[in-house]
Amino acid sequence: MAKSFEENRQQMDDLRAEAKGGGGNKKMKKIHESGRLTARERIHLLLDEGSFQESGVFVRHRNHELGMDKNRPVGDGMVTGVGRIDGRQVYVFAQDFTVFGGSMSEANAMKICRLMDLALENGCPVIGLNDSGGARIQEGVRSLAGYAEIFYRNTMASGVIPQLSAILGPCAGGAVYSPAITDFTLMVDKTSFMFVTGPNVIKMVTNEDVSFEELGGANTHNTKSGVAHFMAASDADCLLMTRRLLSFLPQNNLESAPRTVPNDTPDRREEKLNSIIPDDNKKPYDMVEVIRLVVDEGDFLEVQPRHAQNLICGFARLDGQSVGIVANQPKFQAGVLDILTSQKGARFVRTCDCFNIPLVVFEDVPGFLPGTDQEFGGLIKHGAKLLFAFCEATVPKLTVITRKAYGGAYDVMNSKHIRADWNVAWPGAELAVMGSEGAVNILFRQDLANSDDPDKLRAKLIEEYNETYANPYIAAGLGYLDDVIEPADTRRELIMALNNLRGKKQQLPGKKHGNIPL
Ligand code: HXC
Repeated sequence: MAKSFEENRQQMDDLRAEAKGGGGNKKMKKIHESGRLTARERIHLLLDEGSFQESGVFVRHRNHELGMDKNRPVGDGMVTGVGRIDGRQVYVFAQDFTVFGGSMSEANAMKICRLMDLALENGCPVIGLNDSGGARIQEGVRSLAGYAEIFYRNTMASGVIPQLSAILGPCAGGAVYSPAITDFTLMVDKTSFMFVTGPNVIKMVTNEDVSFEELGGANTHNTKSGVAHFMAASDADCLLMTRRLLSFLPQNNLESAPRTVPNDTPDRREEKLNSIIPDDNKKPYDMVEVIRLVVDEGDFLEVQPRHAQNLICGFARLDGQSVGIVANQPKFQAGVLDILTSQKGARFVRTCDCFNIPLVVFEDVPGFLPGTDQEFGGLIKHGAKLLFAFCEATVPKLTVITRKAYGGAYDVMNSKHIRADWNVAWPGAELAVMGSEGAVNILFRQDLANSDDPDKLRAKLIEEYNETYANPYIAAGLGYLDDVIEPADTRRELIMALNNLRGKKQQLPGKKHGNIPL
């Protein structure tokens, strides 16, 4: 006899409860004791209340080896579905560490792939909440195949829909390559780690002693390696950061980021900017302060704030419109460009360009960093990345030169010649091949050597050089600058320029893809 409705419903409820129970209370308690949240708690915090619709709830793995046929938990340690963030549709997967250590089985790779296909078809972001021991060892090559299917989809979706990866526990081995392909990686301090090979293998192969934290903790990847873009204090903090980050991004490459109604006026003057540049042009100031004084409500989300700190990248809004800001930071190494800053900047510029986010550059750059380390490390090809990225970008591109714009770095930092749309300088800006001291030493070496008073002569020549070359009016006279503006008016001018560029359409020559120097 067929089961009654009540019996059928009971079965459904039992199975659902089993799926929600994950690996059981004991394992959930262990997760909490480690300072982490469970997969479902994370989804609850990430999404708008009551918006989550789960899919693949009853999926189980199909593995029969090593006694696995007797252990086939409902859901298989992977929670997938669709929900809303600030009312906007997003697809989410969360690895449940309480089930086989969140390891990747063929079945849960299939769940992720299905989710990613839907996200692409519907033009919505994908957010991955990673917490996994990597490939499910019992499933061997089937797990590896599952990973590869995900990597392929990550690549196909790249530049089409935003993909965000929160690392909330272990993420080891080849598993790291999915987050690495996505647009942004967020890590939690002390409870998350990422590495290709762990401390034990490293000890065997290279005899180095290194801890999990030192090798692949959030601090390492947010400072040294630049693998991660954000470091959160806790799971909850990380999920809030993910929501905030998403607010600056569009749903897909055919849309613009949502426009907000700012609590700020577009023509706000900021007198403080008129005195922010020190009289001595060798003295630093904080470019983040400049940015905060200009953007809506001083609200700036810095990307990779601890990595390659001589270049600032991040999101803000100007009169409610999301913009990507790239700025030299005179506070760190005088804002010089080097290998790491070039990589950081190039990646950010391309991220903004593929998601229709206008670029705003604040420039104060003494040039590229000299040194054998830099040259042997391939500064030429890495610097070229930033140049290539700015050249290739077709979004509205705006540049404000606050002080120095020297040498090749002048060209690279979104100059008029590489098709920036609106370029201005503050009145004290210096645009030249190099700084006055270096120039005088090269041009007048002989005169200085023959002089009775070389210091006096040098000072006079430097003054002459500065008056002749180190000002914005030669460039402005040549049309390389659209204007020289009062610093206090920077916000108003930027907003006017942005509004005037709303209709911008620029096509690149038809090609399969460019060949950025990787
Ligand atoms: C199956 C796994 C697993 C895995 C962990 N578990 N990793 N099961 N496959 N990869 C299980 C454990 O057996 C255990 O089950 C439970 O998950 C929790 O694991 P613990 O070790 O007790 O947790 P913890 O002490 O917190 O340590 C977490 C860990 C450790 C550091 C992640 O589990 C670990 O080192 N796991 C192996 C990591 C690894 O080498 N993965 C393969 C990487 S290579 P019980 O039943 O006891 O609770 C890879 C290739 C991908 O991923 C290639 C893609 C191209």
